[in-house]
Amino acid sequence: MAPDIHVVILAAGKGTRMKSAHPKVLHRVAGRAMIEHVLSRAARLEPKTTTIVVGHCAERVQTALGGWPGLRFVVQEPQLGTGHALLMAEPVLRGTSGQLLLLSGDVPLLSIDTLEALVGRHTDRQAAATVVTANVENPYGYGRVVRDGDRITRIVEERDASVAEREIREINSGIYAFALDGLFDAVKSIATANAQQEYYLPDLVAIYRRAGRVVETVTVSNPNEIRGINSRSELAEVSRIVRHEKNADLMAAGVTLEDPATTYVDNEVEIGPDTILHPNVTLEGRTTIGEGCEIHSGVRIIDTRIGDRVTVLDHCVIRGASIDNDASVGPFTHLRKDAVVGPRAKVGNFVEMKNTVLGPGSKSMHLTYLGDAVIGANVNVGAGTITCNYDGTAKQKTIIEDGVFVGSDSQLIAPVTIGKDAYIGTGTTIRENVPAGALAVSAGKQRNIEGWVEKKGRPKK
Ligand code: UD1
Ligand code: CA
Repeated sequence: MAPDIHVVILAAGKGTRMKSAHPKVLHRVAGRAMIEHVLSRAARLEPKTTTIVVGHCAERVQTALGGWPGLRFVVQEPQLGTGHALLMAEPVLRGTSGQLLLLSGDVPLLSIDTLEALVGRHTDRQAAATVVTANVENPYGYGRVVRDGDRITRIVEERDASVAEREIREINSGIYAFALDGLFDAVKSIATANAQQEYYLPDLVAIYRRAGRVVETVTVSNPNEIRGINSRSELAEVSRIVRHEKNADLMAAGVTLEDPATTYVDNEVEIGPDTILHPNVTLEGRTTIGEGCEIHSGVRIIDTRIGDRVTVLDHCVIRGASIDNDASVGPFTHLRKDAVVGPRAKVGNFVEMKNTVLGPGSKSMHLTYLGDAVIGANVNVGAGTITCNYDGTAKQKTIIEDGVFVGSDSQLIAPVTIGKDAYIGTGTTIRENVPAGALAVSAGKQRNIEGWVEKKGRPKK
């Protein structure tokens, strides 16, 4: 029978090398806090419990992870090293048996395959500890795996390593499986006789080996997986790897990326086949895009749902909106929260929409603000139309029924309703409801004063 798995994630450290006012584990990798990458992988193993060791900015980390159900937090204060950090989990895990999977909040790329291999090896060999290791080109900064023949004997940190040990290319990932039986007693025997005078968790390897207990290793084939993030440049490198993988997945699923190097797609974004992304497109958050769409350059889309065969022309900002099948948006359109562009509708340049539904086949092509409006089907909103939705105190609604024609340069002072098929003359300020089928005009009659220019003596060219 598979043993119970209890996950512990270390996230108490300050992350000094980030030079940041924010806790390291909350820095974002591809749109998501690095620790959330760790959490989502851990969740795949369906652990019995998940405990996070927080310390530096504990409350901020806890608040940021509020959306994850069932997490337990323990506080490490002061932070005396990774061994000391694990000890903080003792009160919540005392008396439990099974496996403890120890993950690091700053190692976000670990694959589920590796986690499963770790649990599998640890279980098969009935090990006391199993360490995930990697062979890397540049081991600088990592703990080195010291072996006697095939068997791991200890892990030595960069700062404590001899010149010869620094040559070792096999490194400790900081990811381990431990048998819970006797674990905390062993952790308590870790000393601080090292360069940083900290309780080093990797010292458990030597402690267990001396006690004659089984210590195993699992070596990843792709060393990128176990990249730790300690600095801004490592943050950028890891982000690049995540982005590269996401782009590869999208292309494998039938999405065209004209220039993957300048395409930024967050992990959770979903895109249907035969959609084309032009260079310099940024897709963030919980965005979904259907099939056969074309997203042109310089577009940023956040938390938005887009249907099939939608065109988004260059330089649009779209956040919290929804665009239905066969619609077209842009260039230079700003869609804000709860803007809904209906099927076959068109929204053009310098149009801003907020909390507004633009019905099927309707058009608003130029220089317009549509806020808190409900617009029916086949409406034409002329250039320079403004829904005056704010009366200085509250937001008011504009309702435009099917088939209405709004002439250019009109202002609709909400609350107001324009009835079906009504026609609003150019340059009209609408202050009252317009009945269905009516023509509304408010502009004064035009006056021409003959000979005025000559009388004024305007200089001739
Ligand atoms: C650690 C390992 C090193 C390994 C590397 C892999 C130790 C002593 N060294 O080094 O062998 O190669 O990870 O990335 O473990 N943390 C706490 N409390 C503390 C100290 C750290 O919660 O008191 C947390 C940090 O927030 C971080 C993780 O533990 O998430 C690792 O700590 P860090 O200081 O980054 O260790 P490394 O020097 O990277
Ligand atoms: Ca680290």
